[in-house]
Amino acid sequence: MLVKQNVSAYIYSPIRFDKTQKCCDWDEKPHGGNDLMTKKFPDTFLWGCATSAYQIEGAPFADGKGASIWDRFVNTPGLVNNGDTGHIACDHYNRFREDVALMKQLGMQAYRFSLSWARILPNGIGEVNPLGVKFYSDLIDECLRNDIEPIVTLYHWDMPAALDDLGGWLNRDCANWFAEYAEVVFKAYDGRVKKWATLNEPWVVTDGGYLHGALAPGHRNKYEAPIASHNIMRAHGAAVKVYRRVGKHEIGLVVNIEPKYPASDKAEDLAATKRAHAYMNEQYLHPAMLGHYPAEMTDIFDDAWPVWPQEDYDLICQKIDFLGVNYYTRSVTRYEPYANSDVTEVVGGVAFHKAPSWPLRATRVIQRGATYTETGWEVFEQGLFDTLNWVKNTYGDIPLYITENGAAFFDPPRANAGRVRDPLRTDYLQRHLTAISNAIAAGVNVKGYMVWSFMDNLEWSLGFSKRFGIVHVDFETLERTPKDSARYYSKVIATNGEVLSEPL
Ligand code: BGC
Repeated sequence: MLVKQNVSAYIYSPIRFDKTQKCCDWDEKPHGGNDLMTKKFPDTFLWGCATSAYQIEGAPFADGKGASIWDRFVNTPGLVNNGDTGHIACDHYNRFREDVALMKQLGMQAYRFSLSWARILPNGIGEVNPLGVKFYSDLIDECLRNDIEPIVTLYHWDMPAALDDLGGWLNRDCANWFAEYAEVVFKAYDGRVKKWATLNEPWVVTDGGYLHGALAPGHRNKYEAPIASHNIMRAHGAAVKVYRRVGKHEIGLVVNIEPKYPASDKAEDLAATKRAHAYMNEQYLHPAMLGHYPAEMTDIFDDAWPVWPQEDYDLICQKIDFLGVNYYTRSVTRYEPYANSDVTEVVGGVAFHKAPSWPLRATRVIQRGATYTETGWEVFEQGLFDTLNWVKNTYGDIPLYITENGAAFFDPPRANAGRVRDPLRTDYLQRHLTAISNAIAAGVNVKGYMVWSFMDNLEWSLGFSKRFGIVHVDFETLERTPKDSARYYSKVIATNGEVLSEPL
């Protein structure tokens, strides 16, 4: 039976999505029962996994690498949980061959990773570091030797510190810096890399890095955030322009989308939901795909939102070949007056951390009875279905890749006799893969799926406390152990999605 899906109207529909109200049949049949689940994925569907440089590589100063803003951030006391750092992380820099071999063993067809800008150009611009170029060249070759397609992201949050000294994303020159770096790596690898992404999640870069300060470079400034957002998108546009000159394959942008559902039909909740949606979901896709910002930006940032010259929009709005969508959760949103500090709300005996409502005047409502991951994110696969349809309906029928999707649930620090049982993560994957299969059946052009993450890694300012991997990492011995979720995912890949509906 094809279930009734609430497709594109979710942003504005005054529906209360909580577990007391049925919003779709998946609530009743989470593991199966929906005919669409037996539908295979397209033959060309690309199955893979994702990581990012700072979270896994370690070796922060090996072979001539320059410092990045994360090398600084983790060395500032109090900013990262438990004082954890990426100095070793998963030691992927030295173990990448072993990691690629494990990917191969699990059946991965693609590996999405990011380049450390400061490995390639230690000062961000100017002198190129041949050993940095060689590291990624070797990694790409290793992938290709194992029939794994490398998908390369240029920027996953680790700006060279030397450029941060010049203002980082606040400096309008950053578009030229990024274009210079992009040209170096396109020329070095484009013969072998056929899918590129300019940025990973510009929203997180600016919300975490310039507005709320939880991530490097740790600023908290309402006046800086719009400038950083705008400039990073100018950098995206500049890199795409370079690619059209020197590259031959495909380039796209990776954004994180979190659908916003109003908590009630009160006017103030609906307005708060629109602001939250514009801020997180439209702020980057609108200029990149439509050439303008959503109207709500001035309502959110007030006098801190500048008037931008038309030439900037022309630069940002370049034709791209695909969009990467990172999806983790949704937010049921209600109005909340300004609160300029983090909020902790206890619901059902569990403490939920919430970002400050400044300057959005919106907050998320914790859903009683829902499953939450260890990062406090509600498991809500319908949101992925809605997101994919919303992207298609709003920005056109551009090819989409799920470039990240996954969950942090508690796993022990050590594998137990070579096994890690992680049924909640497997369940999360099954639900979200089902949502994707349903979206494909509904006509959305989803071309691939990269699970986040290949292995447990440094979860930014949360340190090693949250494990997202389908492969377990023992951070004392650095031993890798595929979790049960990896075995499940491996079967999904081997059958091109046929085992999705198997009972866990
Ligand atoms: C980021 C990853 C991060 C993951 C889980 C995404 O926002 O791209 O680097 O580890 O979410 O928080």
